[in-house]
Amino acid sequence: MARDGAAYVCQSCGAVHTKWAGQCVACSAWNTLVEELGSRPPGALAPTKATKARGLSFMGLESETLTPPRIETGLAEFDRVCGGGVVPGSAVLIGGDPGVGKSTLLLQVCAEAAARGASCAYISGEEAAEQIRARAGRMGYSRAPVSLAAETAIRDILDGLKRDRFDLVVIDSIQTLWSDNHEAGPGSVTQVRACVAELVRLAKKQNCAILLVGHVTKDGQIAGPRVVEHMVDAVLSFEGERGYPFRILRAAKNRFGATDEIGVFEMGETGLRQVHNPSALFLGDSGQRAAGAAVFAGMEGSRPVLVEFQALAAPSAYGTPRRAVVGWDSGRLAMVLAVLEARCGLSFAGRDVYLNVAGGLRINEPAADLAAAAALASSALDVALPQDCVVFGEVSLSGEIRSVCRMEARLKEAAKLGFKRALAPSGAADGAPIPVAGVSRLAEAIRRIGEEDWKA
Ligand SMILES: Nc1ncnc2c1ncn2[C@@H]1O[C@H](COP(=O)(O)OP(=O)(O)O)[C@@H](O)[C@H]1O
Ligand SMILES: [Mg+2]
Ligand SMILES: [Zn+2]
Repeated sequence: MARDGAAYVCQSCGAVHTKWAGQCVACSAWNTLVEELGSRPPGALAPTKATKARGLSFMGLESETLTPPRIETGLAEFDRVCGGGVVPGSAVLIGGDPGVGKSTLLLQVCAEAAARGASCAYISGEEAAEQIRARAGRMGYSRAPVSLAAETAIRDILDGLKRDRFDLVVIDSIQTLWSDNHEAGPGSVTQVRACVAELVRLAKKQNCAILLVGHVTKDGQIAGPRVVEHMVDAVLSFEGERGYPFRILRAAKNRFGATDEIGVFEMGETGLRQVHNPSALFLGDSGQRAAGAAVFAGMEGSRPVLVEFQALAAPSAYGTPRRAVVGWDSGRLAMVLAVLEARCGLSFAGRDVYLNVAGGLRINEPAADLAAAAALASSALDVALPQDCVVFGEVSLSGEIRSVCRMEARLKEAAKLGFKRALAPSGAADGAPIPVAGVSRLAEAIRRIGEEDWKA
Protein backbone atom coordinates (compact mmCIF):
# COMPACT_ATOMS: atom_id res chain seq x y z
CA MET A 1 0.00 0.00 0.00
CA ALA A 2 1.29 3.40 -0.97
CA ARG A 3 0.32 5.43 2.03
CA ASP A 4 -1.27 4.82 5.38
CA GLY A 5 -5.03 4.50 4.96
CA ALA A 6 -4.90 4.73 1.17
CA ALA A 7 -6.42 2.11 -1.09
CA TYR A 8 -7.73 1.77 -4.61
CA VAL A 9 -11.50 1.75 -4.82
CA CYS A 10 -13.52 0.75 -7.87
CA GLN A 11 -15.89 3.64 -8.60
CA SER A 12 -18.28 1.32 -10.32
CA CYS A 13 -18.84 -1.46 -7.78
CA GLY A 14 -17.04 -0.17 -4.70
CA ALA A 15 -14.58 -3.06 -4.38
CA VAL A 16 -11.44 -2.11 -2.45
CA HIS A 17 -8.04 -3.15 -3.84
CA THR A 18 -4.60 -2.80 -2.30
CA LYS A 19 -2.88 -2.32 -5.68
CA TRP A 20 -3.80 -0.28 -8.70
CA ALA A 21 -4.88 -2.19 -11.78
CA GLY A 22 -6.39 -1.28 -15.14
CA GLN A 23 -9.38 -3.54 -14.59
CA CYS A 24 -11.43 -4.20 -11.50
CA VAL A 25 -11.34 -7.93 -10.71
CA ALA A 26 -14.69 -7.71 -8.93
CA CYS A 27 -16.85 -6.20 -11.70
CA SER A 28 -14.52 -6.29 -14.75
CA ALA A 29 -14.91 -2.54 -15.39
CA TRP A 30 -11.91 -0.82 -16.93
CA ASN A 31 -10.16 2.29 -15.54
CA THR A 32 -12.43 2.60 -12.55
CA LEU A 33 -9.85 2.21 -9.75
CA VAL A 34 -9.16 5.47 -7.98
CA GLU A 35 -6.88 5.98 -5.01
CA GLU A 36 -8.95 7.02 -2.01
CA LEU A 37 -7.60 8.06 1.33
CA GLY A 38 -9.29 6.74 4.41
CA SER A 39 -10.71 3.61 2.83
CA ARG A 40 -9.20 0.45 4.20
CA PRO A 41 -8.75 -2.73 2.24
CA PRO A 42 -10.91 -5.67 3.29
CA GLY A 43 -9.79 -7.29 6.50
CA ALA A 44 -8.14 -4.13 7.77
CA LEU A 45 -11.08 -2.94 9.83
CA ALA A 46 -10.68 -0.14 12.28
CA PRO A 47 -10.00 -1.30 15.83
CA THR A 48 -13.27 -1.06 17.69
CA LYS A 49 -13.60 0.20 21.21
CA ALA A 50 -14.67 -2.51 23.60
CA THR A 51 -18.28 -1.80 24.49
CA LYS A 52 -20.57 -3.94 26.57
CA ALA A 53 -23.13 -5.92 24.53
CA ARG A 54 -26.76 -5.31 25.41
CA GLY A 55 -28.20 -8.58 24.17
CA LEU A 56 -31.21 -9.14 21.93
CA SER A 57 -34.88 -8.92 22.74
CA PHE A 58 -36.89 -11.22 20.49
CA MET A 59 -40.37 -10.52 19.14
CA GLY A 60 -43.12 -12.60 17.56
CA LEU A 61 -44.14 -12.50 13.90
CA GLU A 62 -47.63 -11.20 14.62
CA SER A 63 -48.21 -7.53 14.15
CA GLU A 64 -51.10 -5.10 14.34
CA THR A 65 -50.32 -3.29 11.12
CA LEU A 66 -50.13 -5.67 8.20
CA THR A 67 -49.05 -3.26 5.52
CA PRO A 68 -46.64 -0.39 6.08
CA PRO A 69 -48.26 3.05 5.88
CA ARG A 70 -47.50 4.86 2.67
CA ILE A 71 -47.15 8.42 1.54
CA GLU A 72 -49.04 8.69 -1.70
CA THR A 73 -47.31 11.34 -3.71
CA GLY A 74 -50.20 11.73 -6.09
CA LEU A 75 -47.97 10.90 -9.03
CA ALA A 76 -49.66 7.57 -9.69
CA GLU A 77 -47.00 6.21 -12.06
CA PHE A 78 -44.31 6.87 -9.45
CA ASP A 79 -46.38 5.48 -6.57
CA ARG A 80 -47.09 2.23 -8.37
CA VAL A 81 -43.42 1.53 -9.06
CA CYS A 82 -42.71 2.15 -5.36
CA GLY A 83 -45.35 -0.45 -4.48
CA GLY A 84 -48.26 1.91 -3.75
CA GLY A 85 -46.54 5.00 -2.42
CA VAL A 86 -43.36 5.83 -0.54
CA VAL A 87 -42.86 4.13 2.83
CA PRO A 88 -41.94 6.48 5.72
CA GLY A 89 -38.52 5.66 7.15
CA SER A 90 -37.30 4.18 3.89
CA ALA A 91 -34.56 5.27 1.53
CA VAL A 92 -35.12 5.04 -2.21
CA LEU A 93 -32.38 5.44 -4.78
CA ILE A 94 -33.35 6.73 -8.23
CA GLY A 95 -30.58 6.09 -10.74
CA GLY A 96 -30.31 7.20 -14.33
CA ASP A 97 -28.15 8.76 -16.99
CA PRO A 98 -27.42 12.47 -16.68
CA GLY A 99 -30.14 14.47 -18.43
CA VAL A 100 -32.74 11.70 -18.45
CA GLY A 101 -34.99 13.75 -16.15
CA LYS A 102 -34.34 12.62 -12.57
CA SER A 103 -34.40 16.14 -11.12
CA THR A 104 -37.56 16.93 -13.06
CA LEU A 105 -39.27 13.75 -11.81
CA LEU A 106 -38.37 14.28 -8.17
CA LEU A 107 -39.31 17.95 -8.16
CA GLN A 108 -42.67 16.86 -9.53
CA VAL A 109 -42.97 14.14 -6.84
CA CYS A 110 -42.18 16.75 -4.15
CA ALA A 111 -44.61 19.31 -5.48
CA GLU A 112 -47.45 16.81 -5.91
CA ALA A 113 -46.90 15.28 -2.45
CA ALA A 114 -46.70 18.75 -0.88
CA ALA A 115 -49.99 19.68 -2.52
CA ARG A 116 -51.51 16.64 -0.74
CA GLY A 117 -50.33 17.84 2.64
CA ALA A 118 -46.98 16.05 3.07
CA SER A 119 -44.08 18.21 4.23
CA CYS A 120 -41.44 18.01 1.54
CA ALA A 121 -37.87 19.21 1.16
CA TYR A 122 -35.80 19.31 -2.01
CA ILE A 123 -32.08 19.60 -1.38
CA SER A 124 -29.92 20.09 -4.43
CA GLY A 125 -26.17 20.03 -4.66
CA GLU A 126 -26.22 20.39 -8.41
CA GLU A 127 -28.29 23.44 -9.10
CA ALA A 128 -28.75 26.82 -7.45
CA ALA A 129 -32.10 27.58 -5.85
CA GLU A 130 -32.83 30.03 -8.67
CA GLN A 131 -32.45 27.31 -11.30
CA ILE A 132 -34.78 24.99 -9.42
CA ARG A 133 -37.32 27.80 -9.04
CA ALA A 134 -37.13 28.42 -12.77
CA ARG A 135 -37.80 24.73 -13.46
CA ALA A 136 -40.69 24.70 -10.98
CA GLY A 137 -42.11 27.78 -12.73
CA ARG A 138 -41.85 26.12 -16.12
CA MET A 139 -43.65 23.06 -14.74
CA GLY A 140 -46.39 25.13 -13.11
CA TYR A 141 -45.34 24.41 -9.54
CA SER A 142 -44.11 27.85 -8.47
CA ARG A 143 -46.70 27.98 -5.66
CA ALA A 144 -46.14 24.44 -4.34
CA PRO A 145 -45.20 24.47 -0.62
CA VAL A 146 -41.82 22.72 -1.06
CA SER A 147 -38.85 23.66 1.14
CA LEU A 148 -35.86 24.26 -1.10
CA ALA A 149 -32.16 24.23 -0.24
CA ALA A 150 -28.91 24.18 -2.18
CA GLU A 151 -26.33 22.35 -0.06
CA THR A 152 -23.67 19.69 -0.41
CA ALA A 153 -22.16 19.39 3.08
CA ILE A 154 -23.72 16.35 4.75
CA ARG A 155 -23.10 17.87 8.19
CA ASP A 156 -25.27 20.89 7.34
CA ILE A 157 -27.92 18.78 5.63
CA LEU A 158 -28.25 16.44 8.63
CA ASP A 159 -28.32 19.37 11.01
CA GLY A 160 -31.07 21.05 9.02
CA LEU A 161 -33.12 17.87 8.76
CA LYS A 162 -32.82 17.22 12.50
CA ARG A 163 -34.18 20.69 13.23
CA ASP A 164 -37.09 20.52 10.78
CA ARG A 165 -38.67 17.14 10.28
CA PHE A 166 -40.09 16.39 6.81
CA ASP A 167 -42.24 13.55 5.52
CA LEU A 168 -40.32 13.41 2.25
CA VAL A 169 -36.77 14.56 1.48
CA VAL A 170 -35.14 14.59 -1.95
CA ILE A 171 -31.33 14.64 -2.17
CA ASP A 172 -30.10 15.58 -5.66
CA SER A 173 -27.57 13.96 -6.00
CA ILE A 174 -25.59 11.53 -3.82
CA GLN A 175 -22.49 12.26 -5.87
CA THR A 176 -22.36 15.89 -4.80
CA LEU A 177 -22.46 15.12 -1.06
CA TRP A 178 -19.35 15.32 1.04
CA SER A 179 -18.40 14.81 4.63
CA ASP A 180 -15.39 16.41 6.31
CA ASN A 181 -14.87 13.20 8.30
CA HIS A 182 -13.34 11.60 5.24
CA GLU A 183 -10.31 12.65 3.27
CA ALA A 184 -11.49 11.23 -0.05
CA GLY A 185 -12.92 13.71 -2.54
CA PRO A 186 -16.64 14.35 -3.21
CA GLY A 187 -18.10 11.77 -5.58
CA SER A 188 -15.69 9.06 -4.43
CA VAL A 189 -16.97 5.72 -3.16
CA THR A 190 -15.85 6.47 0.39
CA GLN A 191 -17.70 9.78 0.50
CA VAL A 192 -20.84 8.58 -1.23
CA ARG A 193 -21.12 5.52 1.03
CA ALA A 194 -20.52 7.46 4.21
CA CYS A 195 -23.02 10.20 3.33
CA VAL A 196 -25.73 7.78 2.21
CA ALA A 197 -25.27 5.73 5.39
CA GLU A 198 -25.87 8.87 7.46
CA LEU A 199 -29.00 9.74 5.49
CA VAL A 200 -30.40 6.21 5.75
CA ARG A 201 -29.88 6.33 9.52
CA LEU A 202 -31.68 9.67 9.68
CA ALA A 203 -34.58 8.34 7.61
CA LYS A 204 -35.12 5.45 10.07
CA LYS A 205 -34.74 7.67 13.10
CA GLN A 206 -37.11 10.40 11.95
CA ASN A 207 -39.42 8.10 10.04
CA CYS A 208 -39.14 10.23 6.95
CA ALA A 209 -38.79 8.96 3.39
CA ILE A 210 -35.58 9.89 1.64
CA LEU A 211 -35.34 9.89 -2.13
CA LEU A 212 -31.76 9.84 -3.37
CA VAL A 213 -30.74 10.74 -6.90
CA GLY A 214 -27.75 8.85 -8.31
CA HIS A 215 -26.16 9.50 -11.67
CA VAL A 216 -25.19 6.42 -13.59
CA THR A 217 -21.65 6.87 -14.82
CA LYS A 218 -19.78 5.03 -17.48
CA ASP A 219 -16.44 6.76 -17.18
CA GLY A 220 -15.76 5.73 -13.57
CA GLN A 221 -14.87 9.26 -12.49
CA ILE A 222 -17.55 9.40 -9.82
CA ALA A 223 -19.06 6.57 -7.81
CA GLY A 224 -22.09 4.98 -9.44
CA PRO A 225 -25.37 4.14 -7.67
CA ARG A 226 -24.31 0.48 -7.46
CA VAL A 227 -22.01 1.19 -4.54
CA VAL A 228 -24.97 2.12 -2.30
CA GLU A 229 -27.62 -0.26 -3.65
CA HIS A 230 -27.33 -2.59 -0.68
CA MET A 231 -27.91 0.22 1.82
CA VAL A 232 -31.25 1.46 0.53
CA ASP A 233 -34.71 -0.11 0.62
CA ALA A 234 -35.53 0.37 -3.03
CA VAL A 235 -33.59 1.03 -6.19
CA LEU A 236 -35.44 2.56 -9.11
CA SER A 237 -33.97 3.30 -12.48
CA PHE A 238 -35.20 6.03 -14.76
CA GLU A 239 -34.55 5.19 -18.39
CA GLY A 240 -35.15 6.67 -21.78
CA GLU A 241 -33.93 6.05 -25.29
CA ARG A 242 -32.22 8.98 -26.93
CA GLY A 243 -34.54 10.60 -29.46
CA TYR A 244 -37.75 9.38 -27.80
CA PRO A 245 -39.74 11.47 -25.32
CA PHE A 246 -40.75 8.37 -23.34
CA ARG A 247 -39.24 7.75 -19.94
CA ILE A 248 -39.68 4.54 -18.03
CA LEU A 249 -39.30 4.14 -14.29
CA ARG A 250 -38.47 0.59 -13.16
CA ALA A 251 -37.80 -0.98 -9.79
CA ALA A 252 -34.59 -3.02 -9.66
CA LYS A 253 -34.99 -3.74 -5.95
CA ASN A 254 -37.88 -3.05 -3.62
CA ARG A 255 -38.25 -4.20 -0.03
CA PHE A 256 -41.84 -2.95 -0.03
CA GLY A 257 -43.24 -4.05 -3.33
CA ALA A 258 -42.89 -5.99 -6.55
CA THR A 259 -40.04 -5.24 -8.91
CA ASP A 260 -41.80 -5.80 -12.19
CA GLU A 261 -43.94 -2.66 -12.28
CA ILE A 262 -43.07 0.17 -14.62
CA GLY A 263 -44.12 3.80 -14.66
CA VAL A 264 -44.35 5.49 -18.03
CA PHE A 265 -43.84 9.21 -18.59
CA GLU A 266 -43.47 11.53 -21.50
CA MET A 267 -40.93 14.34 -21.26
CA GLY A 268 -42.21 17.67 -22.51
CA GLU A 269 -41.73 21.42 -22.19
CA THR A 270 -43.65 21.56 -18.92
CA GLY A 271 -42.07 18.52 -17.31
CA LEU A 272 -43.10 14.89 -17.23
CA ARG A 273 -46.58 13.87 -18.25
CA GLN A 274 -47.85 10.57 -16.86
CA VAL A 275 -48.82 8.03 -19.49
CA HIS A 276 -51.64 5.92 -18.08
CA ASN A 277 -52.24 4.06 -21.31
CA PRO A 278 -48.79 3.08 -22.61
CA SER A 279 -50.18 0.81 -25.33
CA ALA A 280 -51.48 3.75 -27.34
CA LEU A 281 -48.03 5.34 -27.07
CA PHE A 282 -45.92 2.33 -28.06
CA LEU A 283 -48.15 1.32 -30.94
CA GLY A 284 -47.59 4.66 -32.61
CA ASP A 285 -49.95 5.88 -35.32
CA SER A 286 -52.00 2.92 -36.49
CA GLY A 287 -51.53 3.37 -40.19
CA GLN A 288 -51.22 0.32 -42.44
CA ARG A 289 -48.92 -2.20 -40.78
CA ALA A 290 -46.30 -3.33 -43.26
CA ALA A 291 -44.74 -6.76 -43.71
CA GLY A 292 -42.35 -7.41 -40.83
CA ALA A 293 -44.53 -5.85 -38.13
CA ALA A 294 -46.32 -7.77 -35.38
CA VAL A 295 -48.16 -6.34 -32.38
CA PHE A 296 -47.13 -8.08 -29.18
CA ALA A 297 -49.61 -8.22 -26.30
CA GLY A 298 -47.18 -8.03 -23.39
CA MET A 299 -47.33 -7.54 -19.62
CA GLU A 300 -45.30 -5.00 -17.70
CA GLY A 301 -45.85 -5.88 -14.08
CA SER A 302 -49.58 -5.95 -13.50
CA ARG A 303 -50.32 -3.93 -16.62
CA PRO A 304 -50.85 -5.19 -20.14
CA VAL A 305 -48.91 -3.22 -22.75
CA LEU A 306 -49.22 -3.60 -26.50
CA VAL A 307 -46.07 -2.88 -28.45
CA GLU A 308 -45.01 -3.36 -32.04
CA PHE A 309 -42.16 -5.69 -33.03
CA GLN A 310 -40.55 -4.70 -36.33
CA ALA A 311 -38.33 -7.07 -38.26
CA LEU A 312 -36.36 -6.75 -41.45
CA ALA A 313 -34.68 -9.68 -43.16
CA ALA A 314 -32.64 -8.38 -46.08
CA PRO A 315 -30.10 -10.12 -48.35
CA SER A 316 -26.66 -9.82 -46.83
CA ALA A 317 -23.88 -8.08 -48.70
CA TYR A 318 -21.09 -9.60 -46.62
CA GLY A 319 -19.92 -13.05 -45.69
CA THR A 320 -21.27 -13.11 -42.15
CA PRO A 321 -24.86 -11.87 -41.96
CA ARG A 322 -25.64 -9.20 -39.38
CA ARG A 323 -28.00 -9.75 -36.47
CA ALA A 324 -29.00 -6.50 -34.76
CA VAL A 325 -31.67 -6.17 -32.10
CA VAL A 326 -33.00 -3.18 -30.16
CA GLY A 327 -35.28 -3.63 -27.15
CA TRP A 328 -35.04 -7.43 -26.97
CA ASP A 329 -32.48 -10.04 -26.02
CA SER A 330 -30.04 -10.97 -28.80
CA GLY A 331 -29.66 -14.51 -27.45
CA ARG A 332 -33.42 -14.94 -27.65
CA LEU A 333 -33.36 -13.68 -31.26
CA ALA A 334 -30.71 -16.26 -32.16
CA MET A 335 -32.87 -18.98 -30.60
CA VAL A 336 -36.04 -17.95 -32.46
CA LEU A 337 -34.10 -17.78 -35.75
CA ALA A 338 -32.71 -21.28 -35.15
CA VAL A 339 -36.18 -22.68 -34.40
CA LEU A 340 -37.65 -21.00 -37.50
CA GLU A 341 -34.93 -22.60 -39.55
CA ALA A 342 -34.96 -26.08 -37.99
CA ARG A 343 -38.71 -26.54 -37.36
CA CYS A 344 -40.37 -24.36 -40.00
CA GLY A 345 -37.91 -24.52 -42.90
CA LEU A 346 -37.58 -20.75 -42.96
CA SER A 347 -33.91 -20.00 -43.59
CA PHE A 348 -32.22 -16.77 -42.64
CA ALA A 349 -28.77 -17.81 -43.81
CA GLY A 350 -27.34 -15.17 -46.11
CA ARG A 351 -29.74 -12.55 -44.76
CA ASP A 352 -29.14 -9.66 -42.41
CA VAL A 353 -31.73 -9.64 -39.64
CA TYR A 354 -32.82 -6.54 -37.77
CA LEU A 355 -35.35 -6.66 -34.97
CA ASN A 356 -36.66 -3.57 -33.23
CA VAL A 357 -39.17 -2.98 -30.43
CA ALA A 358 -40.99 0.25 -31.29
CA GLY A 359 -41.05 3.23 -28.98
CA GLY A 360 -37.87 2.48 -27.02
CA LEU A 361 -39.40 -0.12 -24.71
CA ARG A 362 -37.33 -3.09 -23.54
CA ILE A 363 -39.10 -6.46 -23.52
CA ASN A 364 -37.87 -9.31 -21.31
CA GLU A 365 -40.78 -11.72 -21.40
CA PRO A 366 -40.55 -15.17 -23.02
CA ALA A 367 -44.14 -14.48 -24.17
CA ALA A 368 -42.66 -12.23 -26.86
CA ASP A 369 -41.07 -15.18 -28.73
CA LEU A 370 -44.05 -15.76 -30.99
CA ALA A 371 -44.42 -12.04 -31.77
CA ALA A 372 -40.75 -11.85 -32.76
CA ALA A 373 -41.07 -15.04 -34.82
CA ALA A 374 -44.21 -13.69 -36.52
CA ALA A 375 -42.49 -10.39 -37.37
CA LEU A 376 -39.45 -12.25 -38.73
CA ALA A 377 -41.54 -14.66 -40.79
CA SER A 378 -43.73 -11.83 -42.06
CA SER A 379 -40.64 -9.99 -43.30
CA ALA A 380 -39.02 -13.11 -44.79
CA LEU A 381 -42.24 -14.17 -46.60
CA ASP A 382 -43.15 -10.56 -47.40
CA VAL A 383 -46.73 -10.93 -46.19
CA ALA A 384 -48.22 -8.46 -43.76
CA LEU A 385 -50.03 -9.72 -40.68
CA PRO A 386 -53.67 -8.65 -40.38
CA GLN A 387 -53.94 -5.06 -39.21
CA ASP A 388 -56.13 -5.95 -36.23
CA CYS A 389 -54.16 -8.92 -34.86
CA VAL A 390 -52.10 -9.26 -31.68
CA VAL A 391 -49.55 -12.02 -31.06
CA PHE A 392 -48.09 -13.68 -27.96
CA GLY A 393 -46.74 -17.06 -26.86
CA GLU A 394 -43.52 -18.72 -25.78
CA VAL A 395 -41.56 -20.77 -28.33
CA SER A 396 -39.66 -23.85 -27.16
CA LEU A 397 -36.61 -25.30 -28.88
CA SER A 398 -38.74 -28.16 -30.20
CA GLY A 399 -40.92 -25.61 -31.99
CA GLU A 400 -43.89 -25.87 -29.64
CA ILE A 401 -45.93 -22.85 -28.58
CA ARG A 402 -46.33 -22.72 -24.83
CA SER A 403 -48.97 -20.95 -22.80
CA VAL A 404 -47.92 -17.80 -20.97
CA CYS A 405 -49.19 -16.00 -17.89
CA ARG A 406 -52.15 -13.58 -17.84
CA MET A 407 -53.46 -14.50 -21.29
CA GLU A 408 -56.92 -13.14 -20.54
CA ALA A 409 -55.58 -9.75 -19.44
CA ARG A 410 -53.52 -9.50 -22.64
CA LEU A 411 -56.54 -10.27 -24.82
CA LYS A 412 -58.74 -7.83 -22.88
CA GLU A 413 -56.27 -5.01 -23.47
CA ALA A 414 -56.14 -5.90 -27.16
CA ALA A 415 -59.94 -5.87 -27.38
CA LYS A 416 -60.04 -2.52 -25.57
CA LEU A 417 -57.72 -1.01 -28.17
CA GLY A 418 -59.79 -2.26 -31.08
CA PHE A 419 -57.89 -5.41 -32.04
CA LYS A 420 -60.16 -8.07 -33.48
CA ARG A 421 -58.12 -11.30 -33.32
CA ALA A 422 -55.08 -12.94 -31.80
CA LEU A 423 -52.45 -15.45 -32.78
CA ALA A 424 -51.73 -17.16 -29.49
CA PRO A 425 -51.24 -20.48 -27.66
CA SER A 426 -54.29 -22.74 -28.07
CA GLY A 427 -55.02 -22.50 -24.36
CA ALA A 428 -55.83 -18.79 -24.72
CA ALA A 429 -59.05 -19.37 -26.65
CA ASP A 430 -61.31 -20.25 -23.67
CA GLY A 431 -63.51 -17.30 -22.77
CA ALA A 432 -61.44 -14.91 -24.86
CA PRO A 433 -63.00 -11.51 -25.63
CA ILE A 434 -61.74 -11.68 -29.25
CA PRO A 435 -61.36 -14.67 -31.61
CA VAL A 436 -58.09 -16.51 -31.03
CA ALA A 437 -56.28 -18.47 -33.71
CA GLY A 438 -54.87 -21.02 -31.30
CA VAL A 439 -51.59 -22.61 -32.34
CA SER A 440 -49.61 -25.35 -30.65
CA ARG A 441 -46.60 -25.40 -32.99
CA LEU A 442 -44.55 -22.60 -34.52
CA ALA A 443 -44.80 -24.19 -37.99
CA GLU A 444 -48.58 -23.95 -37.70
CA ALA A 445 -48.36 -20.26 -36.79
CA ILE A 446 -46.07 -19.53 -39.74
CA ARG A 447 -48.42 -21.42 -42.09
CA ARG A 448 -51.30 -19.30 -40.76
CA ILE A 449 -49.42 -16.09 -41.53
CA GLY A 450 -49.08 -17.17 -45.17
CA GLU A 451 -52.78 -18.11 -45.54
CA GLU A 452 -55.18 -15.85 -47.38
CA ASP A 453 -58.43 -16.44 -45.45
CA TRP A 454 -56.71 -15.34 -42.28
CA LYS A 455 -56.43 -11.82 -43.66
CA ALA A 456 -60.08 -11.40 -44.58
N1 LIG B 1 -35.90 24.90 -20.36
C1 LIG B 1 -36.24 23.67 -20.75
N2 LIG B 1 -37.21 23.49 -21.64
C2 LIG B 1 -37.58 22.26 -22.04
N3 LIG B 1 -37.01 21.16 -21.59
C3 LIG B 1 -36.03 21.25 -20.70
C4 LIG B 1 -35.59 22.50 -20.24
N4 LIG B 1 -34.61 22.29 -19.34
C5 LIG B 1 -34.45 20.96 -19.28
N5 LIG B 1 -35.30 20.32 -20.09
C6 LIG B 1 -35.42 18.88 -20.29
O1 LIG B 1 -35.14 18.23 -19.09
C7 LIG B 1 -34.04 17.32 -19.24
C8 LIG B 1 -33.12 17.40 -18.06
O2 LIG B 1 -33.79 16.93 -17.01
P1 LIG B 1 -33.14 16.82 -15.56
O3 LIG B 1 -34.29 16.54 -14.68
O4 LIG B 1 -32.30 18.00 -15.25
O5 LIG B 1 -32.22 15.53 -15.74
P2 LIG B 1 -31.27 14.84 -14.67
O6 LIG B 1 -31.59 15.41 -13.35
O7 LIG B 1 -31.61 13.39 -14.81
O8 LIG B 1 -29.87 15.11 -15.11
C9 LIG B 1 -33.32 17.76 -20.47
O9 LIG B 1 -32.74 16.68 -21.13
C10 LIG B 1 -34.42 18.38 -21.28
O10 LIG B 1 -35.03 17.40 -22.09
MG1 LIG C 1 -30.40 16.67 -12.19
ZN1 LIG D 1 -15.50 -2.93 -9.73
